[in-house]
Amino acid sequence: MSASPFAGPSAADILAELAELRAGDAPTQGGRVLSYVYDSGLSELDELARDAAELTRPLNALDPTTFPSIAVMERELIAFMRRALGGGTPRFGGGVVGSVTSGGTESCLLAVKTARDLWRADHPELAAKLARAGKQPRLVTASTVHAAFQKAARMFDLDWDPVACEPDGSVRAAGFEEKLGADVALVVVSAPAYPNGALDPVAEVAGIAKEFGVSCHVDACFGGLALPWWPGLPDWDFRVPGVTSISADLHKFGYAPKGVSVLLHRGRKRHRAQFFATTSWPGYPVVNPTLLGSKPASPLAAAWAISKRLGFDGYAALTASCVRSAETIVREASLIRGLNVWGAPSGPSIALVTDDGVPEGERVDPHHLADELATRGFRIQHQPGFTQRNGVRLPHTAHLTVTPVTERTLPELVPALQAAADAVRGRRQASPRLELLGMQALGFAPKREGGAYRVPSPDMAWRILKIAGAGSRGSSLPGKLAPLMALAEKLPAPVAEAILIELLARVSEP
Ligand SMILES: Cc1ncc(COP(=O)(O)O)c(C=O)c1O
Repeated sequence: MSASPFAGPSAADILAELAELRAGDAPTQGGRVLSYVYDSGLSELDELARDAAELTRPLNALDPTTFPSIAVMERELIAFMRRALGGGTPRFGGGVVGSVTSGGTESCLLAVKTARDLWRADHPELAAKLARAGKQPRLVTASTVHAAFQKAARMFDLDWDPVACEPDGSVRAAGFEEKLGADVALVVVSAPAYPNGALDPVAEVAGIAKEFGVSCHVDACFGGLALPWWPGLPDWDFRVPGVTSISADLHKFGYAPKGVSVLLHRGRKRHRAQFFATTSWPGYPVVNPTLLGSKPASPLAAAWAISKRLGFDGYAALTASCVRSAETIVREASLIRGLNVWGAPSGPSIALVTDDGVPEGERVDPHHLADELATRGFRIQHQPGFTQRNGVRLPHTAHLTVTPVTERTLPELVPALQAAADAVRGRRQASPRLELLGMQALGFAPKREGGAYRVPSPDMAWRILKIAGAGSRGSSLPGKLAPLMALAEKLPAPVAEAILIELLARVSEP
């Protein structure tokens, strides 16, 4: 046997190293992690997705003319999704067309970019007037809209103008109406909102937006493949007049591996405004509807394969399981002394919140609960509280994404929730007093300088993080997240954001 020309370790050793690294990851299957991962619980689907992904792995989905299989899969997936989202008939759909993207954030970014470009084309004088006044067109959403829309506003030069929610996380259509005007480039409603599972008043808001001639996007990235089969909901999709675009993720309740979502538009004109094209360079004409250029075909192929295998009946059956689990969790969590469900979830997202109606010593703090539950093998997600611009505070909560596999874990999850609540009952929300004192000792005060907050340098942010428990045990992450979340809640947003950027940047710093 001839010697290998490569100096690196053998393929077997490299894969063994990777397997060891993977063993340290949170489990992606089995329902122990109630966020980030969407487990159908069906190994048949996972195998199909893997095989479809492998068959298409070498392709570049940038060019469906060179690789026509991409065009076929994309076409069929869009057709499937538009039927699921009420756009399958001309009566309701008005010619719904769209594109496959790499995920929820990309779909949201493109929805905003498209609406902004159309708004600019329709309002050249107002756009120029605003620009002269140093102002930007607005993006109106509820406070609970996914953060991807804040990112979009920053990237595409819009002013994010959130409608304040009620303390229970719901939002009123009247709040949107008050904000509408000619300078609004896009209104966004969620179906449902990630933090609390609330279904925004889609029909009312879309109707008002239509009257004002404003585009209305429904962000169904989370619920796009669950809400179509969720019982008892009002219409929220293309059947609603005034809804101009919808985003829906296949890599969430579509059960495909990460990297696939769709953005659908009512009408070709709107869809075409999503494209980028240029012939003004000496290379190949670049014409594409997404932010990415070269891109993998595997997530598309996996989503296409799963949608074919499941069909609407399959998705309906998987959603029915989520409904049963969500009802059980809502019921059982509400029975836990000191704990409540935040608002009224209309979908597979549930947020747990302290019940302020019982004496302090009997309250259950959701972040302590999440930390305690982690020691019992279940991970739920810390969501910091936040004060809206009108002063109404949205509470800190703990989020659970319910997936079909959750039903199998309920006999363990419910007692674990009860036991974790018993263990932390009466413990008050973590106080960042030590961290704040530590910041003072380090000479950093979060104060305004010339209108904007002074933000800590990377080194200063890291020193603050270390006080909050980061950097110990060879990991940049603190063992418990409750104190860090409490600190993030207390600090002005730009300061908290700089500290959290540092935390994430350190994770992968060589
Ligand atoms: C409602 C909603 N919109 C957008 C997104 C962003 O999706 P992604 O994480 O795929 O970029 C999410 C993610 O959870 C979501 O729940």
